Amino acid sequence: MKKRIIFVTAVLIVCMAALFLGADGGRRDGQGAKKTSIRIGLLLYRGDDTFIGTLRSSIEECAKEYEQETGVKVTLDVMDAKGSQNTQNNQVERLISLGCDALCVNMVDRAAASAVIDKALAAGLPVVFFNREPVEEDMNRSDRLYYVGADAKESAVLQGELLVDAYKKNPGSLDLNGDGKVSYVLLEGETSHQDSLIRTEWSIQTLKDGGVPIEKITGGIANWERSQASALMEQWILEYPGQIELVICNNDDMALGAIDAMERNDVSPGSIRLVGIDGTPAGQEALKAGKLLGTVESDRELYARAIFEIAAALSEREAVEYEKYFWCPQRALAGGVR
Ligand code: GAL
Repeated sequence: MKKRIIFVTAVLIVCMAALFLGADGGRRDGQGAKKTSIRIGLLLYRGDDTFIGTLRSSIEECAKEYEQETGVKVTLDVMDAKGSQNTQNNQVERLISLGCDALCVNMVDRAAASAVIDKALAAGLPVVFFNREPVEEDMNRSDRLYYVGADAKESAVLQGELLVDAYKKNPGSLDLNGDGKVSYVLLEGETSHQDSLIRTEWSIQTLKDGGVPIEKITGGIANWERSQASALMEQWILEYPGQIELVICNNDDMALGAIDAMERNDVSPGSIRLVGIDGTPAGQEALKAGKLLGTVESDRELYARAIFEIAAALSEREAVEYEKYFWCPQRALAGGVR
């Protein structure tokens, strides 16, 4: 009788342990069994940034597809740092305490990645950085750190080339007043972002190498933002009436801001050419409407899929089918201007 009680108690303990493990999201049994649920933290430098917003939606789509295809439940915790690195550091701690399996981080200040890495590594979490690239020294601290982005030089060369092509086909398409030079203004992204400097440098270099006679009127920093770009452009329209032929923008949102300023000041769409980068839905609309001469689109689906798949594989402790750095393919989109 005593033996029987001991046997029944043992069976009960084993059953309860199995139930407990099941409730814990099907944690690995140590024999390599797949988890039945994973939790991924997605940290954004600013939730209101248009390009980052489109990436976020694509990552959410990837998570849904993954759930459907694998039956593994995915919890995606999205956090917006609203431009504060301090807030983002706290969010990292919060996500670690919530039991995330991996973090996908769009740094506010890319030079501050070491603090995020310290916290993640101490908790045994892998990190997929994206869009705002940490310095190499930080990235080399562990083989569980990845980066997904679009190469800034490539975007700029594609942007420059589409202008060179337009000029070669018809110099009058850029040199609108026919004085032998293309007078341009520049709208740049954040100074601390690797993309701003490189995009500006290579866009201009490509124009020079392609033989387009350019002359800079002025330029300014609008931090990727439509409203800031609009304010700068308005100032320039008033300061340099009739002189601006081309607006080179580090992204589409700033080009859209410049178009807003033109519309507000009754500058006709055809009298100034504009180019951007990102190929956002609004950018592509402007392209179709003939308001934007061109943009450079990164394959957002691949971009998002790389971020999600690396994070999911690391969460499942499966082999990652990506290199430490994944550079998303890009292509130029040229529109017919009005
Ligand atoms: C750039 C993008 C910008 C902005 C920025 C944020 O790559 O072109 O529009 O989203 O990233 O880090």
